[in-house]
Amino acid sequence: MADKDDIKAGKNFAPDVPAKNDPFFLKGAGALDWGMQNRLARIFNPASGRTVMLAFDHGYFQGPTTGLERIDLNIRPLAPYADVLMCTRGALRTSIPAEVTKPVALRCSAGQSILTELSNEMIAVDIEDAIRLGACAMAAQVYIGAEYEHKSIANVTKLIDTGTRYGVPTLAVTGVGADMQRDERYFSLATRICAEIGAHYVKSYYFEPGFENVVAGCPVPIVIAGGKKLPERDALEMAYKACDQGAAGVDMGRNIFQSDSPIAMIQAVNAVVHENATVDNAFTLYEDLKADLLRQRAAE
Ligand code: 5RP
Repeated sequence: MADKDDIKAGKNFAPDVPAKNDPFFLKGAGALDWGMQNRLARIFNPASGRTVMLAFDHGYFQGPTTGLERIDLNIRPLAPYADVLMCTRGALRTSIPAEVTKPVALRCSAGQSILTELSNEMIAVDIEDAIRLGACAMAAQVYIGAEYEHKSIANVTKLIDTGTRYGVPTLAVTGVGADMQRDERYFSLATRICAEIGAHYVKSYYFEPGFENVVAGCPVPIVIAGGKKLPERDALEMAYKACDQGAAGVDMGRNIFQSDSPIAMIQAVNAVVHENATVDNAFTLYEDLKADLLRQRAAE
């Protein structure tokens, strides 16, 4: 019932305390609308400014990738340790229960396979479905220098325009064609194009030397993909170097779900990304957690 009979003049206006207008914590996102900023604040941890995204969208062009044969069995147990799940709508609806409340970066492009030209993608998810699924970001590849460069840029531009209407950020993923050099020149071109067309954050690969210049030249956050499976210590070192040189975290797939101990590995990656753990400490953590998990399994 409305409190009509007891209306009193308010006293707690604190007129001496100016209202705060704190700057938004994320690079390049200060001028965005509340909904967009809120979704970005669910993707990037405001305390560290970084994210550990777990990427398992590989099936959209390469089928049942090693480690992703059963997303319900292999990926679902990793969800509690990820900041964000990056996946297709098919994987989400079929294999991740709705009780998992982690933010989702939804893969919104498709249209090719490992048997055909990778850059020939189209937008394959409507904004309405992205919103229906509660996506915190939409993602598509930009293939700079590839046969369908123009089409891939148009795809991401479309996501940015529709997402902006509804407050859903866009992650532009720099897809690297087989003949491209993974170097400073290529990634400064690709990441900068993504930011200039309006992507809210960009996924790149780590490379040496010059990664820090690519980060500096890109006015929105960069997260790194893991790429092909490396020995665990090397993957942790890559994540460490990338964050040390300005990356805002990782969007890592194979180096987590193809690890000998994915649950241990994702926690070690978390330690690097959010706590600046050294490579030695993170690798020790990985080995300790792996040994604990093996002991637990043996005891079951
Ligand atoms: C596929 C992707 C993947 O999400 C990306 O490559 C991350 O996975 P990985 O760490 O295995 O490289 O964008 O196109």
